[in-house]
Amino acid sequence: MEIYIEDNYDALSKRAVDIIASFLKEKPTAVLGLPTGSTPQKTYEMLAKKCSRGEISFKKVKTFNLDEYSGLSPADRQSYHFFMNKNLFSKTDIDIKNTFFPIDFKPDFKKYDKKIKELGGIDLQLLGIGRDGHIGFNEPGSKFSSKSREISLAKPTIEDNARFFKSIKDVPIKAVTMGIDTIMGAKKIILIASGEKKNQAIFNALEGKASTKVPASIIQRHKNVIVILDKEAARKLNKK
Ligand code: F6R
Repeated sequence: MEIYIEDNYDALSKRAVDIIASFLKEKPTAVLGLPTGSTPQKTYEMLAKKCSRGEISFKKVKTFNLDEYSGLSPADRQSYHFFMNKNLFSKTDIDIKNTFFPIDFKPDFKKYDKKIKELGGIDLQLLGIGRDGHIGFNEPGSKFSSKSREISLAKPTIEDNARFFKSIKDVPIKAVTMGIDTIMGAKKIILIASGEKKNQAIFNALEGKASTKVPASIIQRHKNVIVILDKEAARKLNKK
């Protein structure tokens, strides 16, 4: 596992962008696994800028998002479809037909995993991490062998995500997520985390025992992982 500790959020985003951009230059047909949330926003903004400058292209790229809330239409401003269109897709040359979300495979979410396989598997999976150690919406207790499926969101996740909604009551309590096994099938993983709120989850994930109590700890078992943190997120790590 390669770990980068950057001074701040901008620097960690730049590090992620540099790695993703070189990856796309080497493999313009790459299949990307993508998260939503606050952490990747700057990464997407910088990738979109690189694309508009002609430094990279998403024309032949395919994307699989990690998750989506149940019960929200793609046009809903709180949906992850909307987030991705706003923050990345509409600002690049990607063909929207090549962008996939697990919820669109309802009711048979196994077909999402099948589709990923059909397109050659995920080459590069970008991950954020929840305060409770979730990846995608695989909450604590999710089996390491889990596939894409509908789940109930944990209380800390609902509380954290309430910041994007008018009231906590508006936060959907269910979502569809790629499974942990699906995520681990990616050829390369980049996990990014920023801020003090994430430092316990990062410590547990990287230096704790690999356990379903901390879903992100599974990445210790992946052979090709890059973790990019800012100083605040890295604060509890012993091995720096
Ligand atoms: C969302 C996802 C989640 C987020 C996590 C952190 O698609 O995969 O696991 O990465 O909830 O979210 P932020 O970045 O908002 O702190």
